[in-house]
Amino acid sequence: MAVESVAIQNFMQLDDPQCEERIRRAKAKLGERVVVLGHHYQREEVFRHADFVGDSLKLSRLAAGSRADYIVFCGVHFMAEVADILSGPQQVAILPDLAAGCSMADMADQARVERAWRELDEMLGGEVEQGVTPVTYINSAADLKAFCGRHGGIVCTSTNARNVLDWAFGQREKVLFFPDQHLGRNTAYAMGIPLEDMVVWDFDQPHGGLTPEQVRRARMILWKGFCSVHQMFRPEHVDAFRAKYPEGKVISHPESAFEVCQKSDYVGSTEYIIKTIAESAPGTRWLVGTELNLVNRLHQQFKDEGKSVHFMSPTVCMCSTMFRISPQHLAWTLENLVQGQVVNRISVPAAEAEQALRALNRMLEVSP
Ligand code: 13P
Ligand code: SF4
Repeated sequence: MAVESVAIQNFMQLDDPQCEERIRRAKAKLGERVVVLGHHYQREEVFRHADFVGDSLKLSRLAAGSRADYIVFCGVHFMAEVADILSGPQQVAILPDLAAGCSMADMADQARVERAWRELDEMLGGEVEQGVTPVTYINSAADLKAFCGRHGGIVCTSTNARNVLDWAFGQREKVLFFPDQHLGRNTAYAMGIPLEDMVVWDFDQPHGGLTPEQVRRARMILWKGFCSVHQMFRPEHVDAFRAKYPEGKVISHPESAFEVCQKSDYVGSTEYIIKTIAESAPGTRWLVGTELNLVNRLHQQFKDEGKSVHFMSPTVCMCSTMFRISPQHLAWTLENLVQGQVVNRISVPAAEAEQALRALNRMLEVSP
């Protein structure tokens, strides 16, 4: 007999403490059949229910190593897709709210990337496959990871971008990096590639708005994408902090603008930011350029050690799509699993998953 799924509407009326109780009960019933993975940007009421937390690379590895029947991903869509691709065929990846996307990931799609590849081929005299390695940031849809898999390319995260670019330049002379121009520029510059060797591919313009000569001279071709959260951090925020607290330290996520990263003492992934602050001396004062939920958690976590953690922007900037994962959605997802019903399954078509896996495996091989 088919079991009816429990409707989300019943959960939207619950308050957070009610959800808390129901999430705990459902998790206890499901036991080891479920694993809840949580990205560092999740709100507190969701984050506390995660069995494991991490940045994109760590969570990918956790999904690959998990034996649970159900992987409930408290993060955004591309993360659940990666969990589906890296886990076994009998395992099920679930995203508690399907509207939890990533606006940066949406800035590159297959049609535009295929067009860019064709146009680059024209501009490079039919040599794109020999001359350009496509590199996609993990913040992208599975079909773009599959594109990289097909064309000798690779995936990167903010943790391994440098290792990945080393690999990519070892294959071919140039890199097409999408969708985040900032991660691409910040990483390549730190490797010693000057800004003059980088061009920005404007996907709204024919031939990216570039001449064949500009493309021929470039080593890094940066897709014109960005993160709407990290673009809020400005160099003047760093200047104001330094003027007030000359002894303070500045740490930023590499999705932040070049000028911000240049003015920062440290640049790295969410996991790196947490580790660096955790290992700093008691009394250190930090200005942090990443998402607000994580910065608030760091502030709480380290205030008893006398460390002060400041948010970089004067305006509130949360990742609104990460915030879509609510305790209500998590309770709904888990209670359905208790009833034997899977809701919001993320399933990448087999042929696409196979090609994307090639690019993900290349990444895992070169990762630190
Ligand atoms: P991390 O992999 O550093 O956690 O970054 C993910 C992300 O989306 C940052 O905006
Ligand atoms: Fe995407 Fe930016 Fe949100 Fe990260 S913070 S998930 S890059 S929109």
